[in-house]
Amino acid sequence: EKGGYDYFMLKEIEEQPRAVADTLLGRIGDGGRLQLDEMRMSESELRSVDKVIVIAAGTAYHAGMIAKYAIEHWTRIPVEVELASEFRYRDPILTRDTLVIAISQSGETADTLMALRHAKEQHARVLAICNTNGATIPREADAVVYTHGGPEIAVASTKAFLTQLIACYLVGLYLAQVRGAKFPDEIQDILIQLAQAPEKVRETLDRMEPVKELGRLLKDAERVLFLGRHVGYPVALEGALKLKELAYVHAEGFAAGELKHGPIALVDQDLPVVVVVPPADRPLLHDKIVSNIQEIRARGARTIVIAEDGDEAVVPFADTLIRVPELPTLLQPLVATVPLQVFACALADAKGLDVDQPRNLAKSVTVE
Ligand code: M6R
Repeated sequence: EKGGYDYFMLKEIEEQPRAVADTLLGRIGDGGRLQLDEMRMSESELRSVDKVIVIAAGTAYHAGMIAKYAIEHWTRIPVEVELASEFRYRDPILTRDTLVIAISQSGETADTLMALRHAKEQHARVLAICNTNGATIPREADAVVYTHGGPEIAVASTKAFLTQLIACYLVGLYLAQVRGAKFPDEIQDILIQLAQAPEKVRETLDRMEPVKELGRLLKDAERVLFLGRHVGYPVALEGALKLKELAYVHAEGFAAGELKHGPIALVDQDLPVVVVVPPADRPLLHDKIVSNIQEIRARGARTIVIAEDGDEAVVPFADTLIRVPELPTLLQPLVATVPLQVFACALADAKGLDVDQPRNLAKSVTVE
């Protein structure tokens, strides 16, 4: 049932182009009109939304962090993102015009479910983004957008993450469409790029041999740092989470801008540092991260740089350079995350660990 792969995780990583395509299927109509009728929220309800709060746990929370950058940019609606386990015990400010988005692969995560109930008690409207038909979270939500990733067996979430991103992008673009987009041309361009995402993910997967080698090479690493800016920051957090859970390596993700506010003290020649480089469509962001890479390099650390095709500025400072296909910054997590999944999987495998079933973890965390 692993379809010839050693692990479900590898199979699920490989399934990502299909999972992304299925999650897009039928949702971008002719002329770039989005169709999310299944969402069961009227256009007038969506027009009255004045705040979005995303609640989720683990990998789904990282998808939510990326959603914030995209939804705020496209709709100008303020978006907060919160760990479900924290939200539930706070006294959050919610009204009928707050749209709460609960993201969950399984739809059964206790923290997220409790947070959803907490939001509903205060009359917020709840939209679930979920991969499991008929699970508790989509059943209790007012509306649902399903991701069509298919069953995810490996404890480490991979294809669910990419499809959660797609669902978040679709919801953000749909909100922008319903409310009248501020940058209609940019939105049309994003839709075109989104339609190409399955192909870009496929291309990324075709380049993963050196990443697997790198995983084997670094199998004795005791700690690894992941850095990113903007949407690359949650990607860095996701890369660190994968490495912690699969390979039991102490990994941390930081916003690269925070480097000098503390974490740079950790950097020495024994610390591999993975840096997610934003595309050239955000030149300011890009330049800032290139100087971060130089700072790390100057302290003797090994730099593993994930950068888009054609980015020559990073070449002199990368000990290992991993190329990903071009996409606009907001969509880049769809390709930039893939090498981090493959890296964690290869490193854990090289250590002889059970990739699909890491110690102490359950696929679906149904207790708080
Ligand atoms: O089923 P959910 O998406 O609600 O699960 C949330 C987290 O438990 C999950 O993403 C977890 O962090 C994964 N093991 C990460 O790979």
